[in-house]
Amino acid sequence: MPTLILGIESSCDETGVALVRAPDGAGVPGLLAHALHTQAAMHADYGGVVPELASRDHIRRLLPLTNQVLAQAGQALAAIDLIAYTRGPGLAGALLVGAGVACALGAALGRPVLGVHHLEGHLLSPFLSSDPPEFPFVALLVSGGHTQLMRVDGVGRYALLGETIDDAAGEAFDKSAKLLGLGYPGGPALARLAGFGDPAAYKLPRPLLHSGDLDFSFAGLKTAVLTQARKFEGAPCEQQRADLAASTQAAIVEVLVKKSLKALEATGLQRLVVAGGVGANQALREQLDAACARRGVRVHYPELHLCTDNGAMIAMAAAMRVQTGMAAPRLDYGFDVRPRWPLDALAA
Ligand code: KG4
Ligand code: ZN
Repeated sequence: MPTLILGIESSCDETGVALVRAPDGAGVPGLLAHALHTQAAMHADYGGVVPELASRDHIRRLLPLTNQVLAQAGQALAAIDLIAYTRGPGLAGALLVGAGVACALGAALGRPVLGVHHLEGHLLSPFLSSDPPEFPFVALLVSGGHTQLMRVDGVGRYALLGETIDDAAGEAFDKSAKLLGLGYPGGPALARLAGFGDPAAYKLPRPLLHSGDLDFSFAGLKTAVLTQARKFEGAPCEQQRADLAASTQAAIVEVLVKKSLKALEATGLQRLVVAGGVGANQALREQLDAACARRGVRVHYPELHLCTDNGAMIAMAAAMRVQTGMAAPRLDYGFDVRPRWPLDALAA
């Protein structure tokens, strides 16, 4: 019998809820409806996410969003077969809200619940697209908290190839954006400004580019951006800001592209999956597409609106775990969350 899965994402500053239907057998699960509330405006005044405010807002949003997706899909609450929620990594309080709501719903309906790894959600989110990838592939996971290259041989079969030793790529975008006086969240704003600038205007470092391994380091970039910004006499003009934004983006993108190619070379794989918020970056997409096309490598991305956090990827990861017989949905409703949780520690 097909399975109707409710997915709940509340690990950071987006409340995401979605309904996915997993067909019988091996067919690709399909998205029926999804709804999202972003807290960006609420946190903007503080220049970053305030965990307590995030938790309280998730409490306000989760049930209305659940009703919204049920109405969109024309489904009743009682039709849900499984409730999936983000168990980690993320903000502890925010995760507890999602886990609590999922388990309360599960207990009320007498349905099992399943805690999902947030990064596994990102990793499998390209399977929600109309042109899903096939295993095995190299995955470039680029979010606000993580930058990792993984070898992915199947659901739950993840081997870490390299990762950032300090800041994540999204963090580099956000921190540089802050230095340029752009609001929170900075990544998309910096990318927009970069569209008006010259990426070769300022020479910024590409740390670990030639390190011989697949690790990244982005912490030095914000210092270089700050140093460059201080060289301007007085406040930078619009063109200088745009040039610095473009140069910053170029530095981040070049490192991500070169290391992804290296990972493909090292593994001998011909398929790359890009996931996580920074995967929405147009310059990254264009340069990866060009570099991979020259090598005959296929690149898969999630749909643009499913790059950043959402409930669909959580329901999808749960659906794929259920289909492959790897999930152990629980009926005891005693939940915990894992604010720190390495993806390669996930048991297959
Ligand atoms: O995956 P995500 O929504 O949340 C985490 O799990 O961290 O990623 C959020 C990150 C933020 O750092 C945000 O600035 C960045 O993704 N981001 C972008 C773009 N859209 C989102 N960075 C660069 N260009 C974009 N278009
Ligand atoms: Zn995320």
